[in-house]
Parts: sequence; structure tokens; C-alpha cells
Amino acid sequence: MLEQFEKIGKEAISDLKQVRDLKGLEEFRIKYLGRKGLVTQMLSEIGKVPKEQRASAGQLANKVKKEVSAAFEQFKSKLSAAEKQKSKELIDVTLPGIRPQIGKMHVITQTINELLEIFGRMGFSVAYGPEVEDEWHNFIALNIPPEHPARDPLDNFYIDDNTLLRTQTSTIQIRVMEKQKPPIRVVAPGRVYRPDTVDATHMYMFYQLEALVVDEGVSMVDMKTTINQFIHTFFGPEIKWRLRPSFFPFTEPSAEVDLLWETKDGGSEWMEVGGCGMVDPNVFDAVGIDSEKYTGWAFGFGIERLAMRKYKINDIRLLFENDLRFLKQF
Ligand code: DAH
Repeated sequence: MLEQFEKIGKEAISDLKQVRDLKGLEEFRIKYLGRKGLVTQMLSEIGKVPKEQRASAGQLANKVKKEVSAAFEQFKSKLSAAEKQKSKELIDVTLPGIRPQIGKMHVITQTINELLEIFGRMGFSVAYGPEVEDEWHNFIALNIPPEHPARDPLDNFYIDDNTLLRTQTSTIQIRVMEKQKPPIRVVAPGRVYRPDTVDATHMYMFYQLEALVVDEGVSMVDMKTTINQFIHTFFGPEIKWRLRPSFFPFTEPSAEVDLLWETKDGGSEWMEVGGCGMVDPNVFDAVGIDSEKYTGWAFGFGIERLAMRKYKINDIRLLFENDLRFLKQF
């Protein structure tokens, strides 16, 4: 009988070694430690052992039971830790995926792309010019004489006597006309720089979109029609805009373009978004285009202001702070 007990103990331990998972472990528990299990039965058989062997049989049976139970418990905790780890590593395909953070184009870049597309459809090509300019392209060829207040060093970022950060994309008009003979139909986006005091509508750097059309018989009607078409394409049919007589050295006559804005109190007010006009004959003379034969019109719009009006942005500084909470909205 005692041998029988020892055999059960040995078999139990070697059986346990074969167990691979919690299900196998439960089968093991039922086979040995369950109510009708071999170890449990072994204990109930102690009573059948002859009296003189009973004490040592009891001891042995208890020892076997303790050993098997202890081995079982130890193996159980090892196995459940391993299974837990395994389930952590498994990918639950029913969970929603983790979206990768994808960058997107800045609202100004989006606006420039849209502007170029609209004008592209109207037959305009695109030109670019340098941000570091000379006085010829920024002033002289644009009919801005040396004594003009616009040339005040305090109103410009001069680099040396003849070099400055361009204050307007009108410089690109000159660069285009120096290279290309009419007909000309071009738009030019770019950064411009002015030492302005920063507030909700002013920055020391901002973007402009320049346009230039030169051909025989070009008139102010072409200009107004093109601007009207652009504004309605960009803002939608509801937008109200106007031309207001103004002055620029490089256009004659000149006008400013105003857009109607709703104010916070439910009213509305006009806001200037750019200038325009018929190219001054002095500008044609500067670049060697025959001003008897050709006429032209031009405009320069503030791109931030176009974007601000379109997306109802009330402070230009938001466009340059790169706060993701702001940028993500576009
Ligand atoms: N360059 C002017 C400015 O920055 C805007 C402007 C006005 C551009 C009239 C033009 C124009 O092309 O014809 O204030």
C-alpha cells in the first residue's frame, strides 16, 4: 500500500511536467486533487491499512498530498503569469487602430495653392522672385523716386545701401517684364517684409499675391472682371467687395480692393486686401516695353487677409505661432 502511495506521488509529479496550458492543468487537478482524484482517494484508503502500518501510511499520504498540492500551486502561478504575458503581446484586431499623426499643409500654403489654381484656370502662369532685392526692382523701376517716403530706411529692412528685403511682390512685375515681352499674364506669390508694429492685422513679414497682365488693348474693365471672378470663386457668390480710388506710384489710375467683413456686433465694415491699377507708362519705359502699343493692369493682394476673411481668423498672429490646436482646424 505504501508503495502504491509513493507511486501516485511520482506519477503526479511527472504528469504535471507534461502539462502545457491551464486546461491541461485543470485536468491534472481533477485527476489527482479533485473530490474523486487519486490523491484524495489515497487519503481515504488510509483506513484500510492494517493498524500497525496506519501511522506511517498516514504520514506518507499526507507528505504525498502536500508535495503534489505544492507542485500544482507553483506550476499554476507560473503558467497563469506566462499566459497573461502572452495575451498582452497578442494584438486584438477588434480594437480601433491607432491613427498615425500625419502632418498637413499650413493654412497659408493651402491658400496659396488655391489662389494659384484659380488663376491657373484663368490662364495665368506663375512667377517667383528673390526676397533679397535691389532698389531698382523694389523702387526705381516701379516709379518710386529717391525722395519718396516709401524709401525711408525706417520703413524698410535695408541690408546695405542698395539691398533690402523686398517690401512688395511688385518687384516680380519688373523681373517678369525684363525677361518676357507681351502678352504677359502672370501671378506671383511671395513673402514681403516691412518693419511694421505687430498687431491683429499687421506683421513684419507677410505674403502677397501679385498679378500682371500686359497686352494690346488691355483695359480697366479686364482688371475689374478678373478680380470679380477671382473673388467670387475664392469666397463664394455672397461676398461683397468694392474698388476704392487710391494712389500707387506704379499704376495710374490706381484703386484699392476692399472686402466687406461682418463685425462682432452684427454690423459690417470694409477691409482693404490689396491695391491694383493700370500699369504706369513710366514702368513700361523702365523695362523697355512700348507704352504706346501696350497697356496693362496689376494687383497686389495680402494673402493672410484673404485667408483671414475666408476662414474667419481674427488675428494675423495666429497664422505664425504654429499652435497645432489652431493649425489642425484647416
Ligand atoms: N505693391 C502694393 C503694396 O504692397 C500693392 C499693389 C498696388 C500692387 C497696386 C500692385 C498694384 O500690383 O497695381 O502695397
